Amino acid sequence: MADKKYRLKVDKEKCIGCATCTSIYPVHFVLGSDGKSQPTGNTLVTKEEAEEIIKVCPVGAISYEEPKKK
Ligand code: F3S
Repeated sequence: MADKKYRLKVDKEKCIGCATCTSIYPVHFVLGSDGKSQPTGNTLVTKEEAEEIIKVCPVGAISYEEPKKK
């Protein structure tokens, strides 16, 4: 099983609030009071999952990063 170690991010400057990510992946994203997506932040994904997830955003606002080691 691949390591789930990537954290999803949303670029609020790019997000247009289309809510595709929040409807397909409610576990990963929630719409904030500003009408833009924000990562729920409590889930990590594999690189393969992250690559699939970032494709759903029409404006490319979703990205992912490896969390900093503690
Ligand atoms: Fe925003 Fe893209 Fe999600 S525009 S609401 S980050 S699919």
